[in-house]
Formats: sequence, C-alpha cells, structure tokens
Amino acid sequence: MIEIELMNTAAALARRAGDLAFVGRATLDRANDVDTKSTATDMVTRWDSASERLIVADIERRRPDDGIIGEEGAAKASRSGVSWLVDPIDGTTNFLYGLAGWAVSIAAVDDTGTPDGTLAGAVYLPATRELFVAARGHGAWLAGRRLTCSSSDDTATALVGTGFSYSSERRAQQGQRVARLLPHVRDIRRTGAAAPDLCYVADGRLDAYFEEGLQAWDLAAGLLIATEAGAHASDFTGGSPVPSNVLVSGNVLVSAPRLHDRLLELIGPV
Ligand code: IPD
Ligand code: CA
Ligand code: CA
Repeated sequence: MIEIELMNTAAALARRAGDLAFVGRATLDRANDVDTKSTATDMVTRWDSASERLIVADIERRRPDDGIIGEEGAAKASRSGVSWLVDPIDGTTNFLYGLAGWAVSIAAVDDTGTPDGTLAGAVYLPATRELFVAARGHGAWLAGRRLTCSSSDDTATALVGTGFSYSSERRAQQGQRVARLLPHVRDIRRTGAAAPDLCYVADGRLDAYFEEGLQAWDLAAGLLIATEAGAHASDFTGGSPVPSNVLVSGNVLVSAPRLHDRLLELIGPV
C-alpha cells in the first residue's frame, strides 16, 4: 500500500532531520545563524535550512521522480504524481528560544488533482521524541498507539489551541477572534507550532485548534493526522472544507466533531 510506504518514509525523514536540528541547536549562534523573512518576527535559522537540505536529499535519493515544496525554498515539480510538503522546523521561534514546541512536518500529497490529496504524513517533536504519523484510510498513530480525538460536546470545558501570523495586521484580527472565544471555553493554548497543535487535537490533548493563513507545509501532515484520528476539519465558513487542493494555504478549524458547529459560530466572522 502506497500510503503506508509513504508514511514510513515521511517518518524516517522527519526523525533524521529533527534529530539533526536538535543536536545542532546546541551550537546555534543567535548573532550569525538567524535571518528574517517576511517580517522581523519571521525567522529562519541555519538549522531550518540544514533540516530541509537533508530531507530534500533523502527524498531525491529514495524517490527521484517526486515533487518537493519546502518552506525554505525547495521547489521541484513531480513526475510521479506524488509531491512532498516539507516544514523543516515548524515552530522556529520556540527552537530559537529553547522551548520544546517545535517539530519537523512532512507530508506526501497526491498532486494529480484528486480531492483530499494528502496520502501520508509525519510530525516529529525532537524535544519529547514523539513521532506522530498517519496514512490516509489507515488511522493516526503515536508510538504504536492508534490516536482518537476528544469526544467532548461541551465548549465551556473545551481547551482550544490557536496560533498567530507574522503579519501584524492579521494578528490584530486574530486577537479579535481570540477575545470573542475566550469567555466561552475552558482556556486557550498557544503552543507556537501548528503541526504539533494539530497532533494534540488528534491525541485529545486539545479539544480543538484553529488558525488563519496557514501554509500548506504547516497544515498537510498534521491535518491528516487529526482527521485520521476522527477530528472534524473545515475552514471558518464551515461550508467549504479545508482546501481539497492541499497546495493552497488556508484557515482551519479542527475539532472534536461535536464541538465544531458551536466553535465555528464563536470564531466565525470578525
Ligand atoms: C509557524 C508556527 C506558528 C504558527 C504560524 C506558523 P514556522 O510556523 O506554526 O505556530 O502560528 O502561523 O507560520 O514559521 O515556525 O514554521
Ligand atoms: Ca510552520
Ligand atoms: Ca518552518
């Protein structure tokens, strides 16, 4: 089964790259190893680039006809119908500050135009040595345990994760959403990395997670892991599902199925 094979590949790559960055972090020089990208708060370190290089080289060796899109610049068209979406360090700010919430996120997607294009994914958190994996139609897994999302139906006791963009304009809007939601839920969490947040929904450590303006490499692996664990996913209108073409960025609400409609009402229009 191609999905399982791709999941195992994603898992092996994520673990190798994550361990490389984890060890490398000890030698990180904040003055020389960090650059900024879209804004002064959007950073890239030497280890984001090294992690992506390792993943790209490994994919090219194992599956030379596959496409690759990496956050740090990898761009290669697919000849096989499979492409890889790579976030070499999701949670770079945490990585830089020595906080645990960062991960390597890798997804294999069917880019021949079929809906629900994510075939397999892996999210590896080196600080806790947790490797979350999923294959489409085969469930989501952590250390041999099949994951099931929360069964909560009560928003008042729901623990909800979210994240914020690097654009201050967008943050102002995100602040309004959070302000509206906060009085109605148990509490809010901001891990600092979208892929782990999605995995936490898969494992019931969060009842829900939402964020706007995510990129495909933030979303693809974690979203498959969450939905394979039974979570419900949509954009903020609830009408159209999260982009069926996973190469498009999007707004996402992922939650325990019975919380979804009420959470949509609460976070919906700003
Ligand atoms: C970011 C993290 C963060 C989320 C941002 C992402 P990066 O990814 O996932 O939690 O709130 O939207 O851009 O830049 O650390 O890979
Ligand atoms: Ca990211
Ligand atoms: Ca990143």
